[in-house]
Amino acid sequence: MSMNAPAKREFSILANTMKPSAIRLLLKVANQPDMISFGGGLPNPESFPLDDVRKIFDEQLAKNGKKMLQYGATEGLESLNVALSKRLKDKEGIKSEPTEIIQTTGSQEALYMIGKIFANPGEYVITEAPTYVGTISALKGNGIRMIGVDMDHYGMRMDALRETLKDRPNPKFIYVIPNFQNPSGITMSLERRKELLEIANERGITIIEDDPYGALRFAGPHVPTLKSMDNDVVYLGTFSKVLSPGIRLGYVVAPHDVIEKLNVAKQALDLASSSVSEYIAEAYISGGYMEKQIPKIIDLYREKRDLMIESFGNYFPEDVEFTRPNGGMFLWVTRRGANTDSLFEEAVRQKVLYVVGSAFYPDGDNHESMRLNFTYSSNENIVEGVKRLGKLFETTGK
Ligand SMILES: Cc1ncc(COP(=O)(O)O)c(C=O)c1O
Repeated sequence: MSMNAPAKREFSILANTMKPSAIRLLLKVANQPDMISFGGGLPNPESFPLDDVRKIFDEQLAKNGKKMLQYGATEGLESLNVALSKRLKDKEGIKSEPTEIIQTTGSQEALYMIGKIFANPGEYVITEAPTYVGTISALKGNGIRMIGVDMDHYGMRMDALRETLKDRPNPKFIYVIPNFQNPSGITMSLERRKELLEIANERGITIIEDDPYGALRFAGPHVPTLKSMDNDVVYLGTFSKVLSPGIRLGYVVAPHDVIEKLNVAKQALDLASSSVSEYIAEAYISGGYMEKQIPKIIDLYREKRDLMIESFGNYFPEDVEFTRPNGGMFLWVTRRGANTDSLFEEAVRQKVLYVVGSAFYPDGDNHESMRLNFTYSSNENIVEGVKRLGKLFETTGK
C-alpha cells in the first residue's frame, strides 16, 4: 500500500454488505485436479457451435467490420432486435415490437438494472424460494429486500403468495423463473401461471419472468410463457444457454416505459452491450444456425440428465429425494435432516462439488438441499461424482 493510503480504507454501506457469490467462490476450487464439479451452472463446451461462430465471425467482420468494432446503440443492434422480435413471436407467441427489446450484457445485467429501476433501497420484492443466486446478489447489491415464497412441484405456491401479500403493501415486483427453474429444475404449471397473472393484475404488481432455459426442453409439453399471456410482463432472455455465455448477451422484452428506464440505467452502467456479440447473435438467428443448434444441445443434456438420475438410483441412499426436470441444467437434491453446508468441506476433500441449498434463499434458511448441475461434466464424471456423493451421504449420515 502506498504511503498516503488510509490505514483502514472505508467503503460504502452497500459495498460492506455485498458478499461474493457462493458460486463464484466455488469456481476457484473447481479447477483443482480430479475435481468433479456439479457446482457452477456451466453449459457443456460440447454445446458451443464453434464452427458456426467462426464462419459467422469471418462473414460479419468482412461485411460489417467497421460497425461491429464500433460502439453500438444502448438498446442494441436494430436488426438483432427485429430478428428476436420475430423469433419470440414464432416460437413463444410473444407479440413485441423490436422497440420493446433492449440488449443487455447477459441477463445478469438486466437483473441488476431491474432492481435499480423498480425499487428503492429497503423496499421489498417477491421471489420464489429457492431462487437464482445471481438474482439474490443483484438485488442485495441494490439494497432491496427479498421475501421468498415456497414452491412445490408445480412452481410457486399461490396460496403462500396470497398469504405473503396479505397485510403488506405491494412488492415492487414478483420475480419468477417459470421454466426449469434455477436451482430446483421445476416448471411452473399453466394453472399456476394463470393464477399468478390474476393476482398480479388484481393488485397491479409487475411480474418479472426470467427465462434462460425455456428453449432447452427435453420432455413434456410446452407451457406458454407468462409474457405470451400478458404483454405487461417484463421478460428476460439470454444467449448464454443457446449459444455461449462467453458472448455475454441477454435481452429484456418489456413495455416501452420500462425499456426507456432500462436504457437510461444501461447508459450509466456500460453504454451498450458488445457490438461484436450482437452482430454474431443476429447472424446466428437469421442464418438459421440457432434452430439447428438447439436440438443438438437438447439431445446432449437429456442424455446427461438421464444418466445422473439413473446414477442416483444406483448410488444414493433411498431417503434422498430429487426433482426430475423436463429441461434446463439443474437437479435439486434433498435429504431430510441432512446439512449440506456442513457436508460441503468433506465433499471438497472427496473431490466432488455441489452448491449448498442455502445459497438460493435470500435468508439462507434451507440446509437440507443441494443443487447439482448435470450439463457440464462428462458422462464418466457424472457416474463417478454421484458415486462419491452417495458415499458421502452413507458415511456422514445426517
Ligand atoms: C435464472 C437465471 N437468470 C439469469 C442468469 C444469468 O445469465 P447470463 O447473465 O449469462 O445471461 C442465469 C445464469 O445461470 C440464470 O440461471
